[in-house]
Amino acid sequence: MTWDPRGKVAVVTGASSGIGEATTRRLAAAGMTVYAVARRTDRLEELAGAHPTVVPHTADVTDQDAVDALAARVREEHGACHALINNAGVGGGAFGGRDDLDDALRTLDINVGGVVRCTAAFADLLEAGAPSRVVNMASVAGKLGIGPAAYAASKFAVVGFSEALSLSWASRGITVCQLNPGFIETEGFPQTQVKRTPMARLVGRPEAVADAVVDVLANGRTERTVPTFYRAFVALRHLAPPLYFAAAKRLDRAGGTRD
Ligand SMILES: NC(=O)c1ccc[n+]([C@@H]2O[C@H](COP(=O)([O-])OP(=O)(O)OC[C@H]3O[C@@H](n4cnc5c(N)ncnc54)[C@H](OP(=O)(O)O)[C@@H]3O)[C@@H](O)[C@H]2O)c1
Repeated sequence: MTWDPRGKVAVVTGASSGIGEATTRRLAAAGMTVYAVARRTDRLEELAGAHPTVVPHTADVTDQDAVDALAARVREEHGACHALINNAGVGGGAFGGRDDLDDALRTLDINVGGVVRCTAAFADLLEAGAPSRVVNMASVAGKLGIGPAAYAASKFAVVGFSEALSLSWASRGITVCQLNPGFIETEGFPQTQVKRTPMARLVGRPEAVADAVVDVLANGRTERTVPTFYRAFVALRHLAPPLYFAAAKRLDRAGGTRD
């Protein structure tokens, strides 16, 4: 049976721009009450101004107390959560050595620590809302180690966390999905370098990922790649590694995703 979003409660982290903002708009339009979470309050209030069922909530996903306070608010106001979209994330820079350690650890703390903290804080609320969903915004970079090393490491971790939980939480009525977008043009990931290459036509829009979130929620998927053709590169990585690595070396995006 298809999962009906109308009247259900969602929490979207990283809702102040890009994929999270597009997802918040899309879920609100589908009839959900959406807690829009990020650090930039002005952006969240602007979003809520345009969508009456969007509830702005300022929180940093690296702050345990702030994440617990968010869960406490949802518990008090609704007693359950039906969809947690762990989307907050940063690209981080290149990893060249000691000078880059702080940036790498910060990237891991936001991208992995944030997902784990929020999932832990909402576990009982998701169980109360079952059948419920967790959608973790991983990446094709969580399947193929291309790009800044700490970023790829963070997304591999999100893929592993999601895959393991999708098995162990199924019996609680909670479907956990790893959602893996390819190149999407956003504030944090402007894709400037990619847009200068023949791969420019691969660069997608945040709304395509928001549509994929709706599909994942409706159909209870545990894995989704956007666009789906990236799955061919993942298959190549495992079926013909020498061919894949020859191509990957030429791509070398290890310098960072910030431009
Ligand atoms: N764009 C792509 O090509 C692409 C591809 C694959 C996966 N992804 C993933 O998609 C997700 C969204 O990225 P995006 O492309 O939409 O980038 P974006 O426009 O830069 O959005 C990132 C969001 O994360 C929030 N955020 C960052 N640090 C946070 C923190 N400590 N606490 C709470 N919120 C935080 C930001 O809000 P504030 O600054 O207001 O806190 C912002 O809303 C990320 O996890 C990213 O890794 C993106």
